[in-house]
Amino acid sequence: MLNKKTVTDIDVASRRVLVRLELNVPLDENRNITDDKRIQTTLPTVRYLIEHRARVIICGHMGRPKGKADPAFSLAPVAKRFAELLPGVSVAFATDVIGENARAAIAAMQDGDVVILENVRFHKEETANDPAFARKLAALADIYVNDAFGSSHRAHASTEGVAHFLPAVAGFLVGKELDVMVGAISRPKRPFVAILGGAKVEDKIGVIVNLLNKVDTLIIGGGMAYTFAKAQGGSIGNSLLDESHVEAALDMLNQAKQKGVNFLLPVDAVAADAFSNDANRRTVDIMSIPDGWIGMDIGPKSIEIFKAAVADAQTVIWNGPMGVFEFKNFAEGTRAVAEALAGSGAVTIIGGGDSASAVRQMGYADKMTHISTGGGATLELLEGRELPGLTALDDK
Ligand code: 3PG
Repeated sequence: MLNKKTVTDIDVASRRVLVRLELNVPLDENRNITDDKRIQTTLPTVRYLIEHRARVIICGHMGRPKGKADPAFSLAPVAKRFAELLPGVSVAFATDVIGENARAAIAAMQDGDVVILENVRFHKEETANDPAFARKLAALADIYVNDAFGSSHRAHASTEGVAHFLPAVAGFLVGKELDVMVGAISRPKRPFVAILGGAKVEDKIGVIVNLLNKVDTLIIGGGMAYTFAKAQGGSIGNSLLDESHVEAALDMLNQAKQKGVNFLLPVDAVAADAFSNDANRRTVDIMSIPDGWIGMDIGPKSIEIFKAAVADAQTVIWNGPMGVFEFKNFAEGTRAVAEALAGSGAVTIIGGGDSASAVRQMGYADKMTHISTGGGATLELLEGRELPGLTALDDK
């Protein structure tokens, strides 16, 4: 799938290897990592490099610190976690990225050691993809490895720029994500069903348009379903409306018809009289949500229709929750879809972001074929776009 060189195509022994990883993990108010899944998924590449006696320089970002050092976004907790996950390995944390501390830590490395650099977004040149900064990053190492799938849609200095100044190859996670997702999209076992949710039509237009050329059934749930209901003449009360995309919603419905794609929208909704878990709630027809009421989840009839579509499927891709699943009283639609996927014999791919957290929270993670570590990157892949961080790597 990936026509790029990977870590197995090069000799890394005794070489300084700059590895870009996706380290943007959630922290609690005491800066403890609340979900280390993204770190866990980097370990095959990191361990491979250590076992092959490379000097492993890990680079990544946390949050959006606006180009200056900010302790709230330090990668120190991530470095601590790596040290716990790699017993017996020397894991050092550098308190800067290209400064004296990083350079000294790298100079002191032995083969098989790990140094973790501070948050690369502490430099504004990172997101600007400044070539001079990319050169300075490149000067730290002999080889560049990109395994930060979740950041590869960003053309930043550490994901794209640096690849122009060093031999540049992919890690195992990037290879796996592409194999599973591009494989499913380009050669799906059919019936192929995509389930899309989330709040905004705007965020999903590219994905819907691309997937309409690939899938047999497209299911829409979540906040954006109300814009589709409105587009078809429904009354949606105070439900989420993406006013500027009502036309686009109609256009997508027409495209689906022309292409013979089974386009499934919710027929009912669980509505609330306020945006709160404890609000009064009732199940209503999605085309006639009473004034003042807000659609918060798909209703029981919709759940049955969506489950039936999944039951026949051989491949299912899911991105975006069916409702406000953070509120227990409005989580049933999302839970039911997760359960349907978990129980199906289809290849099931969860496209990162909120649906990935929902599947994990609800205890279905180990029943899925693949849960992507990308949020935005996965969406861009589903849109059929190239990811600049991967395009920049050396061809096979
Ligand atoms: C993510 O969490 O999806 C990636 O780390 C990208 O983050 P960004 O949207 O801040 O670039």
